[in-house]
Amino acid sequence: MPTVAVLVGSLRRESINRKFAEALAKLAAGRLEFRFVELGDLPMYNDDLWPNPPESVLRFKRDIADADAVLFVTPEYNRSFPAVLKNAIDWGTRPYGQNSFAAKPGGLVGTSPGATGTSAGQNHLKSVLNVVDVVLMGQPEVYFTYRADQFAADGSVQDDAAKALLTRWTDRFVAWIERTSEPKTKAQA
Ligand code: FNR
Repeated sequence: MPTVAVLVGSLRRESINRKFAEALAKLAAGRLEFRFVELGDLPMYNDDLWPNPPESVLRFKRDIADADAVLFVTPEYNRSFPAVLKNAIDWGTRPYGQNSFAAKPGGLVGTSPGATGTSAGQNHLKSVLNVVDVVLMGQPEVYFTYRADQFAADGSVQDDAAKALLTRWTDRFVAWIERTSEPKTKAQA
């Protein structure tokens, strides 16, 4: 089963983006294996750390490199995406020539309580993902206005309209990963 490294751009315990990502993991169960990647222990990017890189950085780069695909689940901060994601992306792309994100099939979703559901944040993030060579799925866009009553007690999506959109997104993401994955070398398989 394809593995998906999931990067949630919020570190707080009650994060709605984390809950949203967990609901997506349930919808994709049996077809994709979501692996949540720790971002909170990464230091702020500093080129000087490379001669003796922190274990958190090496682990992060391995988590990305080992996955078949990446999924970004982003809040919107001040009409952009949070620094925690930019910092993680920057670590992932270095040292020069060792970009862990290169040619990875990718997805992007996000949720906020606001009416525009992270559209501005996601669109800033899209331009960065393009530069770092993530092969990003464009449709369906998921700008999700979060309401707690759309989710059941076990965290699964219970609202019919939300479930229809997220099921369509999941179906397409499964197909996208299959279609855009580069053939693995013998060493990787
Ligand atoms: C926000 N929030 C927010 N919401 C939004 O829709 N557009 C925005 O530009 C912002 N800006 C913003 C900046 C900062 C610094 C914070 C902390 C928050 C509100 C945000 O959507 C809300 O706090 C979400 O709950 C954040 O997602 P998590 O942490 O619950 O996943």
